[in-house]
Amino acid sequence: MMGVDVILGLQWGDEGKGKIVDLLSSQYDIIARFQGGPNAGHTIIIGDKKFVLHQIPSGITRSGVMNVIGNAVVLDPTILLKEITALEAEGIEVRSRLLVSRKSNLILPGHRLIDAWQEESNANGGVGSTKKGIGPTYQDKTGRFGLRIGDLHAANFDQLYNKAKERHLRLLRAVGFADEIDDAAWLIAADEVRRTLTTVDSEIYINEALNAGKRILAEGAQGTLLDIDFGTYPFVTSSNTVTASACTGLGISPKKIGKVYGVFKAYSTRVGEGPFPTELLDETGEMIRKKGHEFGSTTGRPRRCGWLDMDALKYAIMLNGVDELFMMKIDVLSGMDSLSIGEAYNNNSFAGLSFNKDVTVNYTQMQGWQEEIRGTTDYNKLPDAAKTYISQIEKLAGLPISLISTGPEREEGIRK
Ligand code: GDP
Ligand code: IMO
Ligand code: MG
Repeated sequence: MMGVDVILGLQWGDEGKGKIVDLLSSQYDIIARFQGGPNAGHTIIIGDKKFVLHQIPSGITRSGVMNVIGNAVVLDPTILLKEITALEAEGIEVRSRLLVSRKSNLILPGHRLIDAWQEESNANGGVGSTKKGIGPTYQDKTGRFGLRIGDLHAANFDQLYNKAKERHLRLLRAVGFADEIDDAAWLIAADEVRRTLTTVDSEIYINEALNAGKRILAEGAQGTLLDIDFGTYPFVTSSNTVTASACTGLGISPKKIGKVYGVFKAYSTRVGEGPFPTELLDETGEMIRKKGHEFGSTTGRPRRCGWLDMDALKYAIMLNGVDELFMMKIDVLSGMDSLSIGEAYNNNSFAGLSFNKDVTVNYTQMQGWQEEIRGTTDYNKLPDAAKTYISQIEKLAGLPISLISTGPEREEGIRK
């Protein structure tokens, strides 16, 4: 029996997971998201159309592929319906090709307000969250206060919802952040989700599909360095973002994980607060941000840019059990005289970064290249300096890079 393959980000998110999942989805029957929520923004570009998916798996544009939102995803009905409407407006059939876990927790209007309060009051140290209510929804999940998609179908849903709303209001009033919760649009959206979407016990669906020989790809959100346990805590997201999370996020045994594909950019970016040892606060960082359009897909915030960090990447490879690497956005690095790769931290390692942020990085200098390589599909056409950069990363990582992406569009890339 085949296993569930996993694609996830090895850095601080926005590695280009959406593009890769869309590309590979033609080889799968089912694409399943297993954690996170609308804090994610996965960009897919097909011809002149651009889609930014927040909660819907990135297989949605392929007819014949079923898309599953797993139990550990937190779901906001208003955002979900906006995504569905935008896809339908482009003639993409969504509702018959989307299954939502009954066990997925609902992001309530109060959660978004509490997230905003946590951010704006610096209550948890100013993480720089996306303010989508992710943290508070997972807090309520582990606190056993959560409402789930399946509850939308309960006869007493109104009662359950009002109880949760009252609890959120008591908190928001106590801290003086809000007196009321405006939930009219959310309630309409929640009702439409209840009426028009198919909810399932997705763990049963996935395991039965696996037993029937279906090919399944699990799509991660965020990135390993934002993992709640292993990231730069407290500057992290509220879910586990590593391979193991695909097991609890979809209800599959660890024995049923197939290949693990790790996606990383040819450099580093981070949006939000927190340590970033290889950050470039100079014109080189500015150049990468401009050329790479490094502005958040979800919030529009400028992304912090820096050199590739091999200490962090090797840690991510270890945690996830990566089999193959996919390298993104190497086209952005054209036009530099030299490039640096952060090889190791002198007095620390990524694993210790949340306790000791004061690190210096040992860099290897590499020669740059001037040629534009956007859209290149032939490895032999890459400038020698780009080939050397790629092989140096493979050597340091101890893993092959099997796909080199050279542009945002589906066809722009090299398979090695
Ligand atoms: P995700 O969250 O991991 O899916 O990544 P995002 O969609 O947030 O950010 C990646 C951005 O880079 C998107 O705007 C993509 O269209 C773009 N992109 C993906 N691959 C490449 C590439 O190889 N080269 C360039 N220049 N852009 C890319
Ligand atoms: P994708 O899936 C980049 C960051 C936020 C913030 C921290 C916590 O597109 O790669 P949260 O709203 O989750 O409580 O915010 O995590 N963050 C992301 N950064 N890409 C993402 O998703 C992110 N999702 C959350 O900026 O620093
Ligand atoms: Mg993104």
